[in-house]
Amino acid sequence: MHAGILTGGGDCPGLNAVIRAVARRLHTNGWDVVGVREGWRGLVENKLEPLGPREVSGILPRGGTIIGTSRTNPFKLDGGVDAVLRNFTENSLDALVAIGGEDTLGVAARLHGEHDFPVVGVPKTIDNDLSGTDYTFGFDTAVWVCTEAIDRLHTTAESHNRVMVVEVMGRHTGWIAVMSGIAGGADVILVPEHPITVEDACSEITRRHARGKDFSIVVVSEGYELKYASGEQRQVTQEEGLDAFGHVRLGGVGDELAREIQERTGYETRVTVLGHVQRGGSPTPRDRVLATRYGLKAADLVLSGSWGRMAALQGDTVVDVSLDEATAELKTVPPAWYDVAQAFFG
Ligand code: F6P
Repeated sequence: MHAGILTGGGDCPGLNAVIRAVARRLHTNGWDVVGVREGWRGLVENKLEPLGPREVSGILPRGGTIIGTSRTNPFKLDGGVDAVLRNFTENSLDALVAIGGEDTLGVAARLHGEHDFPVVGVPKTIDNDLSGTDYTFGFDTAVWVCTEAIDRLHTTAESHNRVMVVEVMGRHTGWIAVMSGIAGGADVILVPEHPITVEDACSEITRRHARGKDFSIVVVSEGYELKYASGEQRQVTQEEGLDAFGHVRLGGVGDELAREIQERTGYETRVTVLGHVQRGGSPTPRDRVLATRYGLKAADLVLSGSWGRMAALQGDTVVDVSLDEATAELKTVPPAWYDVAQAFFG
């Protein structure tokens, strides 16, 4: 029997740990495993490579993905889905493990629903915004990177009596901002799900300074829309157009917010955009373990022919949920989480 593995969407620490775990369990059960290069593009363009015991050895701690990734959407390409189905059959594949976020797994769910495609999923994204699972792998590493940065920014902010704005990723959810903001002791945290006005954010900073703290740390999620007391609301995006899944490229809100804070409070303000450093490098031990558990679960789903399912974490248990359920809607930061963050504002 033959299985393919693909990694789609933004890369993420822990992808190689999943690849290793899937391959190891399938090899043990007598399966051959191939890597599909660069996400769905590999099946559209027939780019496959062997993933034998030698190829998956030594990759557990490695960041990125040894089989490459892309944001290819076969449903948006002329003949894309036909090519995926044809190449899958012509390469004698019996199963596919798709490792990805809402976009990559959304394609998997559609292929399964519309073409009975034998696919199982593994939830990947630093954004932690996938439903049906408490955590995606990669998120813990991103939060660790951001927390480390916030700790470092604290000492320089304090030395110069400055406000430091830290822009973090997360797309349209604020998971990274809330978690790293709580862990790093941020004084204001701005996320898309619980928008507070720029005026209120500035009051928190002024209140803090009034009680003798001459510096502040503000964490803002890239998807936060600047909101004003007047009712005006504005999303800051990059100039490039939409990607294959219709997403705008976010980024830049930190700069605009910093400018507003300096103008409105008079405090010297600087901005740090953490960007792709949040996605690079080696996964944390927690992500390595989670990725490994997900990989074994995905392989077991293949062995039992449980198509259309995705490995998921519920509490401390790895379970499986339907791909449809996982990709139906984004998992946003609930109010209870934001309350924890807000308790330390100002
Ligand atoms: O989904 C992961 C993510 O890192 C988002 O947080 C971010 O908005 C986006 O990908 C960046 O995408 P790209 O790597 O294409 O710039």
